Amino acid sequence: MDTTDLVLAIVHHLLVFSLAGILGAEFVLIRGNLPAATLKRLAGIDRHYGIIATLIIIVGIGRVFYGLKGWEFYVYNWMFWAKMAAFAIVGLLSIIPTIRFISWNRQAAASPGFQVPAAELASVRGYVRAEAFIFLLIPVFAAAMARGYGY
Ligand code: HEM
Repeated sequence: MDTTDLVLAIVHHLLVFSLAGILGAEFVLIRGNLPAATLKRLAGIDRHYGIIATLIIIVGIGRVFYGLKGWEFYVYNWMFWAKMAAFAIVGLLSIIPTIRFISWNRQAAASPGFQVPAAELASVRGYVRAEAFIFLLIPVFAAAMARGYGY
């Protein structure tokens, strides 16, 4: 029994499900109309996305070094690196949506009749869809690496 490993695993799972929830909320919210209240909500949700993603990195690294299996189990495993790459790609894909959400929210606050430009919305929808798709690969790689695949 190892309490540290258990606590890290529990926190990791809770954070991961929170991130999935946030991504799902963004996915749904950007499909509809975007009045000022929705833009404010999107900007707020997206801020939490950044916070949760940062905590996942901290707790994930904690699992590598303080988990039951030891860091050697992960660093030589390509499934682990595929998972890290997928997570990094999701992070990179989230940059443009984050910039847009902040900018739309600011513009809507400054001018009440603000409409999100259609081309910008279409591009953000594409980025969030790609994020959601690549995010799905992360638990696939995670489950495989945890069971010793990837050497
Ligand atoms: C820097 C980011 C991350 C690091 C360093 C990391 C690291 C780890 C480690 C060390 C484990 C333990 C595996 C084992 O039991 O041997 C794990 C498990 C897991 N991770 Fe992550 N992780 C990260 C991000 C994520 C993200 C974003 C997700 C999102 C889906 C995720 C999903 C999972 C799942 C589902 C497991 C459990 C796998 C299983 O036991 O079947 N991880 N992670």
